[in-house]
Amino acid sequence: MNPILFNLDSDPNLANDILSTLNAEPGRLETRHFPDGESYVRVLSDCKERSIIIFCNLFQPDDKILRLLFLASTLKELGAKRVGLCTPYLPYMRQDKRFKTGECITSRPFAELLSTHLDWLVTLDPHLHRYHSLDEIYSLESHVVHAAPLIAHWINEHIEQPLLIGPDSESEQWVSEVAKLAKAPFQVLTKIRSGDYDVDVSIPDVEKWHQHTPILVDDIISSGKTMQETVNHLKTAGLSKPYCIGVHGLFAGSAYADLSSSANIVTCNSVPHESNAIDISTALSHAIARCITPENDD
Ligand code: R5P
Repeated sequence: MNPILFNLDSDPNLANDILSTLNAEPGRLETRHFPDGESYVRVLSDCKERSIIIFCNLFQPDDKILRLLFLASTLKELGAKRVGLCTPYLPYMRQDKRFKTGECITSRPFAELLSTHLDWLVTLDPHLHRYHSLDEIYSLESHVVHAAPLIAHWINEHIEQPLLIGPDSESEQWVSEVAKLAKAPFQVLTKIRSGDYDVDVSIPDVEKWHQHTPILVDDIISSGKTMQETVNHLKTAGLSKPYCIGVHGLFAGSAYADLSSSANIVTCNSVPHESNAIDISTALSHAIARCITPENDD
């Protein structure tokens, strides 16, 4: 029997693409807020013995997490066979260390919450830095989709002589893979962050690359300061207007407006935004299909 996909409305376009690729049945829900602000969730589809995909894109997670957990636990109570989550952006992964005394390492309790209520998780390139795999903190079955082949394809189609640049050591895993697939040179810079909006990035060595188009690749663009600092160095060095490619373009505040005045910005459609140019729907659908195959569905 086909799976049922419940879309918690966080990204209707991507959810619909996945729904039709998987030939899933759209789940029917009633959700609203009571006058006091508390959430109401009612499942209208018959979910007994069915395999369930919840699509809930967890950027800006605090507004979405409760409704997701209410839905997942209700589906289990109603007899669903397996209940999984597709969230193209997996939040709270950057808080993977106690930097100051008493800080919550939010990645851990967040992983526990999702693992308690769900059977599987599909996501796109989570921020794995101090953790090497989701299995270190998630106890559910997880499948990670990688954007590198899609980004390399976009570069090959659009840029003639690329020079790839990773703005910090964490970005090496993405930029080196994209460079290999795009058969392009790359370099990785170092970054010191002293605040949410305060970063220092080392100066790239671009002396012999003046004929190339610089392409910065990073997993997340949030405040945009990491990209902006690097773009400023490239401008000072006299290179052509760079491209900034982000797997997940979160663009807090005026980040997009500020950065787009000095760079071309391209993102995957993991977070809906006007800069989306790299489609991840097929790759996500294939990963979800692995979670709902008959072997898993027994
Ligand atoms: C962190 O290390 C990530 O890989 C990104 O470099 C970071 O999240 C970018 O943040 P922002 O846009 O706020 O500088």
